Amino acid sequence: MTRPSAARSAAPKRETFSSRRLFILSAIGSAVGLGNIWRFPYIAYDNGGGAFLIPYLAALLTAGIPLLFLDYAVGHKFRGSAPLAYRRLHRAAEPLGWWQVLVCFVIAAYYAVIIAWSLMYTVFSFTEAWGDDAEGFFFGSFLSVAEAPGLGFSYVPSVFFPLLMIWAAVIAIMVAGIRKGISRANAVLLPLLVVMFVLLVLQSLFLPGAAEGLNAFFTPDWAALADPAVWAAAYGHIFFSLSVGYGIMVTYASYLKRRTDLTGSGMVVAFSNSGFEILAGIGVFAALGFMAQAANAEVDEVVTQGIGLAFVAFPTIVSQAPLGAFMGVLFFGSLVFAGITSLISVLEVIVAAVQDKLGWGRVQASLVVSVLVAAVSLGLFPTATGLYLLDTSDAFVNSFGITLGALVTVVVLAWFLRKLPLLSAHLNGISTIKMRRIWMVLVAGVVPLALIYMVSNEFISKISTTYEGYPAWFVGIFGWGMAGALVVLALVLTSIPWSSRSKAHHDPEYDAMVAAEAKETPA
Ligand code: ALA
Repeated sequence: MTRPSAARSAAPKRETFSSRRLFILSAIGSAVGLGNIWRFPYIAYDNGGGAFLIPYLAALLTAGIPLLFLDYAVGHKFRGSAPLAYRRLHRAAEPLGWWQVLVCFVIAAYYAVIIAWSLMYTVFSFTEAWGDDAEGFFFGSFLSVAEAPGLGFSYVPSVFFPLLMIWAAVIAIMVAGIRKGISRANAVLLPLLVVMFVLLVLQSLFLPGAAEGLNAFFTPDWAALADPAVWAAAYGHIFFSLSVGYGIMVTYASYLKRRTDLTGSGMVVAFSNSGFEILAGIGVFAALGFMAQAANAEVDEVVTQGIGLAFVAFPTIVSQAPLGAFMGVLFFGSLVFAGITSLISVLEVIVAAVQDKLGWGRVQASLVVSVLVAAVSLGLFPTATGLYLLDTSDAFVNSFGITLGALVTVVVLAWFLRKLPLLSAHLNGISTIKMRRIWMVLVAGVVPLALIYMVSNEFISKISTTYEGYPAWFVGIFGWGMAGALVVLALVLTSIPWSSRSKAHHDPEYDAMVAAEAKETPA
């Protein structure tokens, strides 16, 4: 039998980002993702256009940024993956961390699939493989979507193989670790993404009809501000977009050096993410303006979001625009790069948790975790019924994984454990922008109220009609069942004992840090 002390001394040291710049870059890489490019423009347009900027900014300032700071404070002060950091905060809070880990498991499995589609469409842009029927091509020739939702195992090779490539690339990044893998990938991909995306926006702005597109996007519908659903849309969007509430920022902040300006970094991350989002709105609507003009239609007849925007509307634009192939490569290439930098952050939440709980080294944990998630992703999604599965898991994990998870987390931290003063003191001790009482009021009051409203709305809408008219058994298993399983499994994972090699038992670096901080602030 291994003596615990021998095993403990073998526990690997925790990695850190080598600089604050690389942390900021990686956090922006995480935040800027598919959500910014294909979700924000439509949500803004659909919820009041130019007037949406008001609820959007309100959501950013009163919920997004305060929660970002909360995630940073938990991860940085308690220097662990989500389960370990919450456990160090309070033993009873460990399941919150596992819940977030499981949410990331689900997101990673389907998020990679959309990146794989985008990779194929980058290639298709050269030949305009969709011909003159982008919709028929996407759902038919490319995805071979089945007539009805179900669980089929008829694999679609045109999705399976690019997905395998994405997973191979991502696994290589994960195995290489924080400095050599995640930091480097972000340092290369994020600047490339920005250059490509700015070129895309410039190209879109010079297309005929662009001005009408921008008019449609920015024309404010002030009446929308009286509609609570518009405000809920803004709050709902900001969590996914900023990558807050599901463990990512807790995990990334745990790799920061001790004396780091947390709130200053958070501001840079939050405003870069929003800047990118607004840029995406401009680019997408300029292009849609062109599409509308070419089809002799109004902009509102061609706008769409998500899959429809990226894989039906954009290919149509690529076919019609001058230098269309170039535009296609820029758009789909941007989706691939933005997607990969987000996917690695989502996976890191799981890898870090497994490393901490089992005391495994980087290579072992990242290989086992990534291969497991890749197996689920490759096993379930590149099939004829994969699109239905992706749609359902995305909808339910957003509503009952991220939103409900964030609600439970803030209520537990703020109201049950009353840890906000401690976390606020931690942020203030090292940051340039100081937290005042208002931060606690926002986290303990405004955020839970907004979240309660959103969760109940989501609940009512999903219970009153079967999601998208899919069969009840399908939504029951992959929607409600999956969401329920997140909670049950979080408790099961909590009940598994921490390995004797785990940092939860013995972490000399963390212990030394706590001792040093106690000395600095005598009671
Ligand atoms: N924050 C990432 C996105 O917007 C996950 O897609």
